[in-house]
Amino acid sequence: MLIHPDIEKIVYSEEEINNRVKELGQVITIDYKEKKPLFITVLKGGVFFLTDLLREVKLDMMVDYIAISNYGSSSEKLGVVRVLKDLDQSIEGIDIIVVEDVIDTGLTLNYLLKNLKNRHPKSIKVCTLLDKSVRRIADLKIDYKGFDIPDIFVVGYGLDFKQKYRNLPYIGILKADVRGNSKNKT
Ligand code: IMP
Ligand code: MG
Repeated sequence: MLIHPDIEKIVYSEEEINNRVKELGQVITIDYKEKKPLFITVLKGGVFFLTDLLREVKLDMMVDYIAISNYGSSSEKLGVVRVLKDLDQSIEGIDIIVVEDVIDTGLTLNYLLKNLKNRHPKSIKVCTLLDKSVRRIADLKIDYKGFDIPDIFVVGYGLDFKQKYRNLPYIGILKADVRGNSKNKT
């Protein structure tokens, strides 16, 4: 396989990701039998995982998107985020599955879950492709996860570094000279 020249090492290959996404889709299909869940993903990174996952979910379902942004470095620490694009529909009385590409400190998701719970959904579960649990600050329950990942910064399959590399079909580590000392997480 041709590897992007900025990638040092592949952590999860396209095949590994596809197999795992298939398994997650099958489990969700069983768990939500005869229900019609609404999948909500956070723009932009989660979309790549979401669309592959949904092709493996053999249920009537709905999908919606939310875009959120951190206020700034100080409030970011408290997990205070701003809704940039809200959901199109009411979620009252609906079974919700929040789909994320990666949960790191969990602060963003923690805020989002509080926000969504205030709208009285019937139920709410979390599905993430990557779980960086060693970095967790917020106390979160993750219902479905693709892979446990150590404290490494990865790109591809929706994950970016300065908006690049989202379209790589695998997940990998950037070469040190590409990433430099930047702590940019967007
Ligand atoms: P947190 O869970 O609130 O700390 O933030 C999670 C967000 O940080 C994710 O949605 C990503 O945008 C970003 N992020 C965390 N780890 C990585 C990574 O390894 N690569 C790319 N983005 C990451
Ligand atoms: Mg994100």
